[in-house]
Amino acid sequence: MTATMKLVSRVRRLGCVLAFCFLALFLWGLRVARALDNGLAMTPTMGWLHWERFMCNVNCQEEPDSCVSEKLFLQIAEIMASDGWKDVGYEYLCIDDCWMAPERDSEGRLQADSKRFPGGIRRLANYVHSKGLKLGIYADVGNKTCAGFPGSFGYYDIDAETFADWGVDLLKFDGCYCDSIKHLADGYKHMSLALNRTGRSIVYSCEWPLYMWPIFKPNYTEIREYCNHWRNFADVYDSWQSIRSILDWTTSNQERIVPVAGPGGWNDPDMLVIGNFGLSRDQQITQMALWAIMAAPLLMSNDLRHISLEAKALLQDKDVIAINQDPLGKQGYRLRKEDNFEVWERPLSNLAWAVAMVNLQEIGGPRSYTISLTSLGQGLACNPDCLITQLLPVKRKLGFYEWTSSLKTQINPTGTVLLRLERAS
Ligand code: GLA
Repeated sequence: MTATMKLVSRVRRLGCVLAFCFLALFLWGLRVARALDNGLAMTPTMGWLHWERFMCNVNCQEEPDSCVSEKLFLQIAEIMASDGWKDVGYEYLCIDDCWMAPERDSEGRLQADSKRFPGGIRRLANYVHSKGLKLGIYADVGNKTCAGFPGSFGYYDIDAETFADWGVDLLKFDGCYCDSIKHLADGYKHMSLALNRTGRSIVYSCEWPLYMWPIFKPNYTEIREYCNHWRNFADVYDSWQSIRSILDWTTSNQERIVPVAGPGGWNDPDMLVIGNFGLSRDQQITQMALWAIMAAPLLMSNDLRHISLEAKALLQDKDVIAINQDPLGKQGYRLRKEDNFEVWERPLSNLAWAVAMVNLQEIGGPRSYTISLTSLGQGLACNPDCLITQLLPVKRKLGFYEWTSSLKTQINPTGTVLLRLERAS
């Protein structure tokens, strides 16, 4: 080989090495870009959020027990720690809208309403932390919060610093009163970076896609880079109609939203309303089962001081929570709809699957539904055989099934049967 040939071949080799380095860097960049890189929400956030149950009740004179006040959060914190909620994973106690004073302080900082939160947020955070819990707070990307309190527009950095300084662990960032889609996107991104810059671990809960949908189809890849979870659809109400509309929206958009969910970033179908007034027992079971299948944040909005034993047992069901919190972190989807039944499935770690069958018919009594096991989990859930456990409405070991067999269930109107399938061999 001549000296020139050797040089050419060395240059080529160097070129290959450099190309490989660039490719590796590029792929690494892609990997980093996939989720908000704050190390939080590796499984869906669990906790309690005041909005659906307590809304914007600021009348502490007449309703001292149900107004948005320090007292409410101190009491709920106490119960979360003492009544088994924390032990099963409900960790974040979250304040929603209406905690603020109507004006910022003289230095431009947000401040809590001094009558309803006389100890301030920092002291509340200390108490919440002393119970082994974390504190969530609420603010808005626009000029005002949805209920008309001061918005964060123009104050993102100072608000992020204030929350970090108080010891806040989660921010729900709403999207009301934002005057343009550009301000909305810039604001959500700005706040994400501002929170990161504080150096405090703060889960970032967004409503960015919800406010984008009427104008543009959201870019979920981008949203996932900035948020730990994101609301897509209208607020949950304490009614079956509301739960159904959330499920319907989810199935209509599942191709778009299911693939983006994973450790660090989740679709948020809004709060669990189990334990309130509007859902029947079967409908509460459906919400719990489907929120587990959807890998949804489990943020209860109810009154933990007055909750039935039945609702408590459902919300604290460890097997169902284990499906929601499964470390594989893949969101489930609707597999089929026929004859007013829906079948949903979710892949779990160790090749297990969760399957939910919903009876959507709102007339008549329990209906039977037979499912062939070959059709589940892309043909793999029960291949060549599996052990099936029914988790809801009651836990029951159903035993060993072969791939070619089928399973017959009875499902109440608006109720759900939730199963866990595990490989037998
Ligand atoms: C919006 C949000 C709700 C709640 C209220 C508070 O409607 O979607 O979840 O935070 O604002 O005003």
